[in-house]
Amino acid sequence: MKILAALALLFASSLCAAAPDSLMTNSRVRFMAANCAYCHGPDGKSRGAIPSLAGMDKHYFVEKMKGFRDGTRPSTIMSSHASGYTDAEFVALGNWFANHK
Ligand code: HEC
Repeated sequence: MKILAALALLFASSLCAAAPDSLMTNSRVRFMAANCAYCHGPDGKSRGAIPSLAGMDKHYFVEKMKGFRDGTRPSTIMSSHASGYTDAEFVALGNWFANHK
């Protein structure tokens, strides 16, 4: 009986641990991506000279964003738009845009 209770606890705690991840991939990522729409177009589909983000390779995306944030990649305005995000948020955004072709 004790073992069953312990298993139930383990299961419950792994469900809780999964919650922040699923939040990150839904409304929160959508909210972060909306900050990019003004220049990169709705859902990252650009209608102008600024590159589209939709369908972009996620590894390329994450490397670019880290470079903008850390100042290793020159940019006009992206360094300020990339600041304040964590690596995990770049990965979540990269997945989101990669899936919006
Ligand atoms: C005010 C306009 C503007 C906003 C808002 C903006 N960007 Fe950009 N983005 C640019 C410009 C302009 C470039 C070209 C590089 C440069 O000059 O900074 C660029 C380049 C990029 C690139 C590199 C594309 C490539 O292939 O080289 C990525 C990735 C990117 N932006 C992602 C984002 C993300 C993610 C957001 C939202 C968090 C965002 N941008 C918000 C204007 C913007």
